[in-house]
Amino acid sequence: MTAPAESGGLERRFLLGGGAMLPLLAGTATAQPTPATPAHEGRSMEMTLQVNGQAHRLALDSRTTLLDALREHMGLTGSKKGCDQGQCGACTVLLDGRPVLACLTLAAGVGTRPVITIEGLHGRDGGLHPMQQAFLDQDAFQCGYCTPGQIISAVACVRQGHAGSAEEIREFMSGNLCRCAAYPQIVAAVQQAAPLVEQG
Ligand code: FES
Ligand code: FES
Repeated sequence: MTAPAESGGLERRFLLGGGAMLPLLAGTATAQPTPATPAHEGRSMEMTLQVNGQAHRLALDSRTTLLDALREHMGLTGSKKGCDQGQCGACTVLLDGRPVLACLTLAAGVGTRPVITIEGLHGRDGGLHPMQQAFLDQDAFQCGYCTPGQIISAVACVRQGHAGSAEEIREFMSGNLCRCAAYPQIVAAVQQAAPLVEQG
């Protein structure tokens, strides 16, 4: 004998819905609260970042770092991801003129402050920035992975008045690691470029 359609439907719903169907069957259905956003998911935010003199309008997860925004969403891959933990300096960019670690900076917290990356540096004539030229002249790199962060920090070092001596330069640049150990040449490059980089 075939079971009535209604009855069969209920059985299927029992199988599919399990215990969640019990209030419906008992006639005591209540509105279920909207599930909260899981802890591992951020929310999408719209923002406009000012990078290298250009406005970039983006919709990003609220947890996106400035480094990922630059590299993954703007195609600016000059800033490198070495450790992604604030330990190597490869991701250094200028935020409002100050060097910051882009891997520890949330894009959502940048606001309207200008960001300058290695792609945004240039000399007065539009060619290489004096610090970029000095790194070339002094052979201040081998593999080059740390170099964008080194150059950005070096520019900040001079602009903020910390290039008075080799010791001062080493101290200011101590957050930028170089696995190729080009440190003596990096200090020489900063000293070469210092007279050509405006302070302030
Ligand atoms: S990638 Fe940011 S400090 Fe290493
Ligand atoms: S040039 Fe290779 S890590 Fe610095």
